[in-house]
Amino acid sequence: MSSTPAFDARFLRQFDTLLRWRRDVRHFDTRAIPPEEMTALLEAASLAPSVGNAQPWRFVRLRTPALREALAAHVDAENARAAAGYAEKGRHDAYRALKLHGLREAPELLAVFCDERPVAGHGLGIATMPEMLRYSCVTAVHTLWLAARARGIGLGWVSILDPVAVAALLDVPQDWTLIALLCLGYPEAPSETPELERRGWQAREPLADRLFER
Ligand SMILES: Cc1cc2nc3c(=O)[nH]c(=O)nc-3n(C[C@H](O)[C@H](O)[C@H](O)COP(=O)(O)O)c2cc1C
Repeated sequence: MSSTPAFDARFLRQFDTLLRWRRDVRHFDTRAIPPEEMTALLEAASLAPSVGNAQPWRFVRLRTPALREALAAHVDAENARAAAGYAEKGRHDAYRALKLHGLREAPELLAVFCDERPVAGHGLGIATMPEMLRYSCVTAVHTLWLAARARGIGLGWVSILDPVAVAALLDVPQDWTLIALLCLGYPEAPSETPELERRGWQAREPLADRLFER
C-alpha cells in the first residue's frame, strides 16, 4: 500500500503561486510543445474528478492545417458579429482591441468534448442533473490548465464560436458536445495579472462580494 504524500508549506506556497500565475494566454512564441509534454498534460487532465467516474471528456487534437484555418476563420466571423453587438454598448473599440484567440499561432489546438452518453459511470449521479457530465469535463480542462502552467505552457480558452458548427467541422459523434476549444503554447510574456485586467476590460473583484452566508 502506498503512503499518503505530505504536502509541505513550501509546496503550498508554490501551489498558490501556480494558481496566481495560471493565466489565460493568447500570445504565444513559436516553440513547439514536445510530444511527451502533451501526453503528460492529457494524462493529468484525465485525473480530474467526474460524476460517477464517467470520465466523459473526449480530446480532439488538431493535426490538419486546413481544419485549423477553418476553425480560425469561423471564430473570426463570430468575433466580428460579437463586435457589432458592442457598438451599441459603446465598447466597440475596446472590444476590437482585445486579442480573443490565438488559433493561428498556438503550436497546439485541443478541442474538448463531453460524451453525453458515456458507457463508464453507468449513469450514476446524472438522473437529476445531467449537466454534471459537462461540469466534469470542465474540471478536466482546469486540471489541464494548471498542469500546463506548471510546465511553463500557456492555455487560452476560446468560446466565441458556434459549438454545433465546431463539432461539425471536427466531425465528432452526435452525442459529443463541445466544452472548450483550447490554444496551447509557450507564452510570449507570462504575467501575474489577467490580460483583461491589464487592458482595462475587467479586473478581479474581491471575494467578499462573491461570498454569501445563509
Ligand atoms: C469558460 C471560459 C471561456 C473563456 N472564453 C474566452 C474567450 O472566448 N476569449 C477570451 O479572450 N478569453 C476567454 N476566456 C478567458 C477569460 O477571459 C479569462 O479566464 C479571464 O479574463 C481571467 O483571466 P485569467 O484566466 O488570466 O486569470 C475564457 C475563460 C473561461 C473560464
